[in-house]
Amino acid sequence: MSKSFRILASVAMAATLAATSACSSTRDSEETSGGSTSNLVGIAMPTRSLERWNNDGAHLDDLLKKAGYTTSLQYADNKVDQQITQLENMINQNAKVLVVASIDGTALGPVLEKAANAKIKVIAYDRLINATPNVDYYATFDNYLVGKLQGEFIVDKLGLKDGKGPFNLEPFAGSSDDNNAKFFFNGAWDVLKPYVESGKLVIPSGKKLVGEEDWKTISITGWKSETAQAEMDNRINSFYTGGKKVNVVLSPNDSLALGIAQSLESKGYKPGADYPLITGQDADLANTKNILADKQAMTVWKDTRTLGDQVAKMVDATVKGTAVETNDDKTYNNGVKVVPAYLLPPVVVVKDDVKTKLVDSGFYTADKLGL
Ligand code: GAL
Repeated sequence: MSKSFRILASVAMAATLAATSACSSTRDSEETSGGSTSNLVGIAMPTRSLERWNNDGAHLDDLLKKAGYTTSLQYADNKVDQQITQLENMINQNAKVLVVASIDGTALGPVLEKAANAKIKVIAYDRLINATPNVDYYATFDNYLVGKLQGEFIVDKLGLKDGKGPFNLEPFAGSSDDNNAKFFFNGAWDVLKPYVESGKLVIPSGKKLVGEEDWKTISITGWKSETAQAEMDNRINSFYTGGKKVNVVLSPNDSLALGIAQSLESKGYKPGADYPLITGQDADLANTKNILADKQAMTVWKDTRTLGDQVAKMVDATVKGTAVETNDDKTYNNGVKVVPAYLLPPVVVVKDDVKTKLVDSGFYTADKLGL
């Protein structure tokens, strides 16, 4: 999608919402959702320390404001209690809708019960909220496909289908309190597992990833780069002696990939022939630069602007009491119910298409990437 088209789309999006929200906040709101007459939308984001959430929050906030909604955009520094307090404040401020990118999807039951009692609608943003009936809709990217694309990229690049190998693989997984992490891992592992079983992919660190919950043994809490870096240091020190080389790293996202690349660099790995294949997700700025510098092989880009656009439409329909668009009413069972969801497509980005996908679409300027 070209840059000019994206700008036109956002302006059109805001105009459409403005037209509808204006009417809903004056006339319809009483009738449709939430007892309150406010048109406040609460936006709860997990943290500012992971790059994408800054983009997510700012874009959605901007769209909703342009559409005439009042907004409360809050970041919780990856602290669950802080996020719960922020949600309680939004409820006490008579929010009409809460848009929540949860830190721990299992910890919000009690506060969302308060929201339900106040007839406040809840939209789970990017990460599913679990173990509660009080979540109305979910919007995200196809999380299982993200992992599948990472696994298929590894199979393709290493020539595993042609019988190449064995290769030394080090797998990582995301934060165990994040419902997405399981989907990312399962998507990748469903592709890679046959090659681990056939011995074409070997895991020198000995991670056993057989059982349903085994992915948690390789999870990096809070998606922290520094934790991933320390874990990679440990594995290299312990299991890569006598000239043994890491050939490929399954990194579920870019913040982990950054720490892993820093560890490899500190152990003497240099971009070039025997530099390991590292996967990623989010197209963070530093990682996109690493891809251009051959320090990371790919990232799965999720254009956060499209998620914001979709959620803004869901908020508006919810307030207006019209049909909320969803395209997956099966996959996301949160343990209490299947939450109707809207899934967006993730896209693989490698060095050769950084310009066409990330710059031409306006996600980054060429200048920002040093292009
Ligand atoms: C996931 C999200 C990813 C990644 C990660 C760390 O839930 O889907 O895009 O950003 O959190 O923030």
